[in-house]
Amino acid sequence: MTANTFELGPGYTISRVIRGGWQLAGGHGAIDRSQAVADLIATFDAGIWTYDCADIYTGVEELIGAARLRLASERGLDVAARMKVHTKLVPDLERLASISRDYIRGIIDQSLRRLKTERLDLVQFHWWDYEQPRYVDAMGWLNELRLEGKVRNLGTTNFDTPRLAEILAAGIPLVSQQLQYSVLDQRPGSSLAALAKQNGVSFLCYGSVAGGFLSNKWLGAAEPATPLENRSLVKYKLIIDDFGGWELFQHLLQALKAVGDRHGVDVATIASAWVLEQPQVAAVIVGARNQAHAIANAKIMDVALDAEDRERIAAVIAQGTGLEGDVYTLERDRRGRHGSIMHYNLNAGKK
Ligand SMILES: NC(=O)c1ccc[n+]([C@@H]2O[C@H](COP(=O)([O-])OP(=O)(O)OC[C@H]3O[C@@H](n4cnc5c(N)ncnc54)[C@H](OP(=O)(O)O)[C@@H]3O)[C@@H](O)[C@H]2O)c1
Repeated sequence: MTANTFELGPGYTISRVIRGGWQLAGGHGAIDRSQAVADLIATFDAGIWTYDCADIYTGVEELIGAARLRLASERGLDVAARMKVHTKLVPDLERLASISRDYIRGIIDQSLRRLKTERLDLVQFHWWDYEQPRYVDAMGWLNELRLEGKVRNLGTTNFDTPRLAEILAAGIPLVSQQLQYSVLDQRPGSSLAALAKQNGVSFLCYGSVAGGFLSNKWLGAAEPATPLENRSLVKYKLIIDDFGGWELFQHLLQALKAVGDRHGVDVATIASAWVLEQPQVAAVIVGARNQAHAIANAKIMDVALDAEDRERIAAVIAQGTGLEGDVYTLERDRRGRHGSIMHYNLNAGKK
């Protein structure tokens, strides 16, 4: 591993900053498709050549597929092959009870078509409801597709410690788990990190800038009133509330700003650099609507925090209440504050 790259699986290397795709799915403003493809290529040129998308992010696999084709035609297949693309498989909640090998195959074939490739680099599996027990079967069918060569690497997203242990015990060779990890949310740092370490599973982390809240823009700002601009901000405002509230959040921003000033970078860059240092973390996935922030985020890989920086940030974190439970336990409760804002059946009618 250098500061900028991480070998996630044997012979499979990614950039330590990954461009998140959710912000290109339409919920953060209209997408100009040709500009979005140009932005994806600008991100590649800035050193962020790994991308995150999902079967349920409307139009995003297609945009990344178009960027790959354009790189291949303008710069050659070798250059296009340097692009690494991580997708997800998120079966609809209403399909979990009747999930089948054919359903899984259908979604993988759809991702292959949209991403204009013969093999998916990494498929990250999500499961909405543990009361439906067939997630291990579904991972087994995904593993068959890996053995057939349609998928290179397997990962999970948002599984808690006992269920991840169950999947690993079934012999599924996972390279990664995608999850939320930030200066506000250290739920992955305890039991899940220990299990992941034992099994060689690395973390790919979203939410490192909390939907943009962890940035200079919010330093000194009053607590925002609802409605917030997009669903990501609604979701991360709940995380801030659980962390300890707006006043403590402002102390955290001040600490990140002071650290940033020592390194000549902004709050968002330090917030993501902090996540990159945590145990088991291979990469941060940072979303951006366009190239402005997407390119700026390459700087995350150049920051090396020192003991003084870490202490300053830890001192504020220690004053927080800390988020409750294992990874995604709060979000998984569909009647709770965190879970009730999610959409559960986004694959329906998409094929
Ligand atoms: N597995 C899952 O369940 C799951 C859940 C959530 C997200 N994800 C993945 O992770 C990615 C990122 O997570 P997220 O969607 O929660 O959002 P996030 O990365 O925490 O926040 C993205 C927002 O932060 C702003 N931002 C990015 N870099 C910035 C910078 N350097 N300075 C200031 N603001 C900055 C962007 O604003 P602009 O748009 O203005 O640039 C963007 O709208 C997603 O795109 C998606 O691929 C996965």
